[in-house]
Amino acid sequence: MPDKSDSKATLIIEGGPTLELPIHQGTIGPDVIDISQLTPNGRFTFDPGFVSTASCESQITFIDGGKGVLLHRGYPIEQLAKHSSHLETCYLLIYGELPTKAQKADFEYTISRHTMVHEQLSTFYSGFRRDAHPMAILCGVVGALSAFYHDSLDISDEKHREIAAFRLIAKMPTLAAMSYKFSIGQPFMYPRNDLSYAENFLFMMFGNPCEDYQVNPVLARAMDRIFLLHADHEQNASTSAVRLTGSSGANPFACIAAGIAALWGPSHGGANEAVLEMLEEIGDESRIDEFVAKAKNKNDPFRLMGFGHRVYKNFDPRAKVMKETADEVLKELGLENDPLLKIAKRLEAIALEDDYFVQKKLYPNVDFYSGIILKAIGIPTSMFTVIFAVGRTVGWIAHWHEMHSAPYKIGRPRQLYTGHPSRDYQSIDKR
Ligand code: SDX
Repeated sequence: MPDKSDSKATLIIEGGPTLELPIHQGTIGPDVIDISQLTPNGRFTFDPGFVSTASCESQITFIDGGKGVLLHRGYPIEQLAKHSSHLETCYLLIYGELPTKAQKADFEYTISRHTMVHEQLSTFYSGFRRDAHPMAILCGVVGALSAFYHDSLDISDEKHREIAAFRLIAKMPTLAAMSYKFSIGQPFMYPRNDLSYAENFLFMMFGNPCEDYQVNPVLARAMDRIFLLHADHEQNASTSAVRLTGSSGANPFACIAAGIAALWGPSHGGANEAVLEMLEEIGDESRIDEFVAKAKNKNDPFRLMGFGHRVYKNFDPRAKVMKETADEVLKELGLENDPLLKIAKRLEAIALEDDYFVQKKLYPNVDFYSGIILKAIGIPTSMFTVIFAVGRTVGWIAHWHEMHSAPYKIGRPRQLYTGHPSRDYQSIDKR
């Protein structure tokens, strides 16, 4: 870790010691104060929600929330969205550098040859109800993958970690599409090795065995960009869940299942589904003010879904690209006058002028426009967070791999205890 050796924070504890805490400096971004001396001196830090806590050192992604900056291995998300592809970005996130032509071709070939899943997994789906939420199915099926791949579970072996990454990146679209097909009672479609990553996903989602299915290249490009924009985002809740699960030595499939579970919540990846439900509930531009007022009312739990972010106190750079993609897709489909897009754009304009949102620095985040694109492509709302999980799989596995590539400790936070002091058991006749 690069260090500002002569830089320290002095902590004077009343009635206790004065501690000189080392300050570590990263390449860019805030310095961190090393608090490891606190516990030997009988104290913990207290930081619910880890608002001010750096949980690890990482070189994968950097976010500057104040400036709306997102870098993957130093490359701005806007440039990757414009010039790269999801698989090329997967290579970048895992290996740290953009691939050469040969490396890219080799990586794409490897991933495409891992897209099929064990035939026995198909019967696994039949244990679910047809109306099960696809995220519930995905959680279960991904967790079960470790039952199929005993040959690559030695997490201390870099090659095992690499093959697990290939399998997860390659199979998530297949498992996701199978979750959808199962929910509508259609047969599963086998992946095709002649299609790109996003084309293959759309083919498995909307193709059927009775006729040829041609993927619309504009929709495939939009789908690929959605996967890319969701690829990684530093130590968000689901990535932190993957790291914490991985710190106990759990296998990669169990760790990714933990990430999927954490992502499902409406405050996190479930927000894209919640945005569509909110826009449909608003229903008409005339009702926007009513919902903005609800979002501002402290006594009303309603929040404007797709707005706000723990880190971004400026525009989420992904939201800007997503908005451009939404315009492209709806134009391609002749849906420029899509009522939900009109409500979304009007809602964004109102919120960005409203003092409440301006004061609290609440801007549209990655989830605000993604649902509109997915709905236009024909993907049901219940599949939106599944799409997020497919894109984010590479980020989860890249962080998991990075953690296992260097010495690490099992994650074990402490607490501020405010429960009962020690007391004696009371027999039931004395209670
Ligand atoms: C993702 O971490 C990541 O990087 C996540 C993510 C990723 O790529 O992994 O970027 C993906 O999860 C994006 C966020 C998607 N979630 C939503 O769109 C749900 C709506 N947003 C909020 O729930 C909220 O903004 C969070 C959860 C995203 C962030 O919450 P914080 O950082 O804990 O902020 P907060 O709840 O403390 O809010 C600060 C203030 C509060 O008011 P006060 O108590 O200070 O008076 O802002 C208010 C909040 O009430 N507020 C909102 C609001 N979001 C925050 N008020 C109305 N509508 C909102 N959306």
